Amino acid sequence: MQKATNNLNESLDDVLRATNEARGLLNDSYTTDEYFRCDRDAVIGKTWAGIAFGSELPAPGFAKPVNFMGLPLLVIRNLQGEIKVFHNVCSHRGMLLMEDEKPVRTVIRCRYHSWSYDLDGALKATPHIGGVDVHDCEGFSRDNHGLKSIASAVWMDIVFVNLCGTAEPFADFIEPLATRWEALTGDNGLDQVASAESGSHMELPVEANWKLPVENFCEAYHLPWVHPELNRISPLTQHYNIVGGENVSGQGSYNYTPTPVAEETLPKFTEWPEDKITHAEYLALYPNVLLGIQADHTFAILLLPREAGKTVEKLQINYVGMGATEDRFKSCRDATLANWKEVFVEDVFAVEALQDGRQSPGFDGGVFTPLMDAPTHNFHKWVARGYLAEHS
Ligand code: FES
Ligand SMILES: [Fe+2]
Repeated sequence: MQKATNNLNESLDDVLRATNEARGLLNDSYTTDEYFRCDRDAVIGKTWAGIAFGSELPAPGFAKPVNFMGLPLLVIRNLQGEIKVFHNVCSHRGMLLMEDEKPVRTVIRCRYHSWSYDLDGALKATPHIGGVDVHDCEGFSRDNHGLKSIASAVWMDIVFVNLCGTAEPFADFIEPLATRWEALTGDNGLDQVASAESGSHMELPVEANWKLPVENFCEAYHLPWVHPELNRISPLTQHYNIVGGENVSGQGSYNYTPTPVAEETLPKFTEWPEDKITHAEYLALYPNVLLGIQADHTFAILLLPREAGKTVEKLQINYVGMGATEDRFKSCRDATLANWKEVFVEDVFAVEALQDGRQSPGFDGGVFTPLMDAPTHNFHKWVARGYLAEHS
């Protein structure tokens, strides 16, 4: 790590320069196992990262193992319907607790010696711990050996975790973006999508470091060449850059038009301003959540890094209000998913070729164009500051 760190530290000042003078992160940051772990522990782990959707835990009493960057985690919806996240490991001898997602009515039982935990992580049973048929043991309190919990929060049906446990409160983290979008949806408008069931879903594996889909999402510059059809409907000229704070950047469009299907259109946010009905925003919420908002739906993509050069993109489209999930809107929902699927699949070759380019000694971070790449540069600066905080 030391050699790679020195290598990168030398370039961090360059990343933090003004956009027209800066260069980007070096290749090692995208290609090496050392930086993958550094990204996890020093960058992603220090803030709030998206790991799952609430819809993946369909009912109270449901548990889902999630491997996040090599860390086995367990997301549980408890009997009260609240979502909690734990390390997916038994407190006794460290066996992986759950391998497959499933409904859990009462307890989660370890397969090794049958220690059992309730859905709030409390250790409830320790069979034969004090000898045959003796289930308690002097000097051992079950209260001290529950599952190890991880700070978590749910917003727009995204389950966020803070791995290190010392990040700012989630409410502070999300406040700038939530406020920005409540200006479009009205107060509590985003709750309308959070409660809508059966959104549309898609998973897309990409052979690229997790940072490249973030960077690609931050810019509209590639639209005419990578998304010719989208560019016809919502052209580059109708887009504008957004740098919405230290950990939010992306683009907006003035030209979003919902496509009616069989004369049906999806329900819209009731308080969305009429003069902005065609506005849409596409923002990366660092580190790993890509978000879109339009008058009739939102979407979120969670970037789940698997290896330095492999990421899974998990998409959920949310519609507005429970009514939007009725059968009569199914063709609209299907069309919305199909449209986005086309766009996101078009991006795959781009991020994968960006990853391939990072094998080249002829590339040392590149340059940012001062206008078109400003949101991407904002992300680079955020990552660079994370590296600096870790290694200075
Ligand atoms: S390792 Fe889980 S009960 Fe022993
Ligand atoms: Fe794109």
